[in-house]
Amino acid sequence: MRIILLGAPGAGKGTQAQFMMEKYGIPQISTGDMLRAAIKAGTPLGLEAKKVMDAGQLVSDEIIIGLVKERIAQDDCAKGFLLDGFPRTLPQADAMKENGVSVDHVVEIDVADEEIVKRMSGRRVHPGSGRVYHVVYNPPKAEGKDDVTGEDLVIRADDEETTVRKRLAVYHEQTKPLVDYYQDAAKAGLNKYHRLDGTEAVADVSAKIADLLA
Ligand code: AP5
Ligand code: ZN
Repeated sequence: MRIILLGAPGAGKGTQAQFMMEKYGIPQISTGDMLRAAIKAGTPLGLEAKKVMDAGQLVSDEIIIGLVKERIAQDDCAKGFLLDGFPRTLPQADAMKENGVSVDHVVEIDVADEEIVKRMSGRRVHPGSGRVYHVVYNPPKAEGKDDVTGEDLVIRADDEETTVRKRLAVYHEQTKPLVDYYQDAAKAGLNKYHRLDGTEAVADVSAKIADLLA
């Protein structure tokens, strides 16, 4: 199964990806996690991406399309994949089409901007795995520690409120057009399109996704 998770920053894409990977036995491809790994490793790509990400802007289509192309070609993607944070511009969606990469389901998680700003201040992440928590809504078993490894959780560099607002503006301008794009594709029978309310509890959103994809 090939799935795209679409939604604003903080809508819960990474959170829902955690259960979907397991349930459907497919890898999560998070371009944000890949870029953060490059930053941590200090690669030239990481150095370039860091400035852009810290400013809440998008990394160039050329770089991102190259990264995803390479990742999708790996063996574990043969059975399908879950795209989280890609595509997020029309050229990225077109590049998928031009490369003959079709998708089965597009799942849009809908959350209003003000709710997102509130959420982001409580987000904590495990840098090694990309696992996502929230101090109130999705707390780890031990405060400040990852459930699986016990390692420290951190606050993402781009979760400061002014940067979150910038990312939301970029989302509305550059990523929102993909809603029409994939709804039109659904009308043409190319993929299924599902929108769901992302303000419900994490487990309820998961249950709805499982129903929609059943
Ligand atoms: P990326 O890492 O993709 O960030 P994003 O899209 O902005 O999304 P987030 O990871 O912030 O949110 P999410 O939807 O995964 O929410 P989460 O599950 O964590 O990208 C970062 C940057 O990299 C971009 O700004 C850009 O610079 C660059 N980049 C990445 N991909 C790119 C691309 N394709 N092209 C160009 N540039 C790219 O949840 C958020 C919080 O809410 C958590 O604390 C969580 O616990 C909590 N939460 C989740 N669900 C619920 C719920 N139902 N109720 C209450 N709380 C909840
Ligand atoms: Zn994420």
